[in-house]
Amino acid sequence: MNTLNVKVSPPSLRSYEILIENGLIANFPDTEAFKKRFSNVQTFAVISDDNVFELYAHVIANALARAGFSIIISAFPPGESSKSMETYFTLQSWLAEKQITRTDAIIALGGGVVGDLAGFVAATYLRGVPFIQIPTTLLAMVDSSVGGKTAVDIPAGKNLVGAFHQPGLVVCDPDVLKTLPDENFADGMAESIKHGMICSKKLIKMMNTETALPAIIAGNVKIKRDIVQRDPFDTGERQLLNFGHTIGHAIEKLSGFGASHGNAVAIGMAITTRAAVKKGESAPECLEILLELLEKYNLPTRTDFSPEEIFEAALTDKKRAGSTITEIIPRVPGVCELVKMPVDELFDRIQAGMES
Ligand code: GLY
Repeated sequence: MNTLNVKVSPPSLRSYEILIENGLIANFPDTEAFKKRFSNVQTFAVISDDNVFELYAHVIANALARAGFSIIISAFPPGESSKSMETYFTLQSWLAEKQITRTDAIIALGGGVVGDLAGFVAATYLRGVPFIQIPTTLLAMVDSSVGGKTAVDIPAGKNLVGAFHQPGLVVCDPDVLKTLPDENFADGMAESIKHGMICSKKLIKMMNTETALPAIIAGNVKIKRDIVQRDPFDTGERQLLNFGHTIGHAIEKLSGFGASHGNAVAIGMAITTRAAVKKGESAPECLEILLELLEKYNLPTRTDFSPEEIFEAALTDKKRAGSTITEIIPRVPGVCELVKMPVDELFDRIQAGMES
């Protein structure tokens, strides 16, 4: 088993383990990491979406029942539109009705939407209850399940209401990815390409060769773990993880969340890098390597939305601070930097990055 320990700050919040192993969803309650943190729990409230519920809820329920725990399960319709205040309120009411207390725990079983939403429910129900992340998409395994960011969307933008709440355990079972549609897999690879571009030539090489998936997942998790350990509250280095996300979030919003997160981020990284190469800030190799990887994993690099529309939609981004915004600019493959710029400069960059 691949085990990574995440030390969280402040130290009063306990550290937690990320476990990666094929078949783990059927036996995670037998692991030491689970027993250490969760053996006193009475009831696990499992939160999922309807698709994942069909495929894996019975596996989790059997594993927990065998270990002597009570379980309740709630599932909502899949998709970004469920990551809303309405679903949040329904889940909070469900937990209260079932008399879940602080000695119980929540399990987020699903992709990024489930993890963010169930995590925010766990962060705020009774002012915070423990939770376990069981990511079932590549994107959730390599990115969103690690680091304690939880949120819901509101009409003004994505992830605008949320909290930092670290999980007590992350259970990654690469076997569950076998049931994923190809587009969903590509979405996760977009975040993996992002990790490679911002800080790891080694990961870029792994994605360019036929490295086994569990090793790619472990490589990503290690990168994410190291960054969130150094900057848990996203005040500095962690912002590098937003490479491609200002434009990506704008595209998601403009598409009414019809465009997937990975596709939108792929386009965002391509536009940002094209503009940076034109300005002489990035080595041309950055764009070549990025476009090659995006193509290899069937990810898009262009959009039909106009620069004006993207800029307008980007103005509510969390990365904006008054009249400035922080963007992530590649320097050479495996090295990116945070660059603070006037908001208007973002428009010029979007325009430059969309021209051929
Ligand atoms: N997904 C970006 C972060 O966790 O900071």
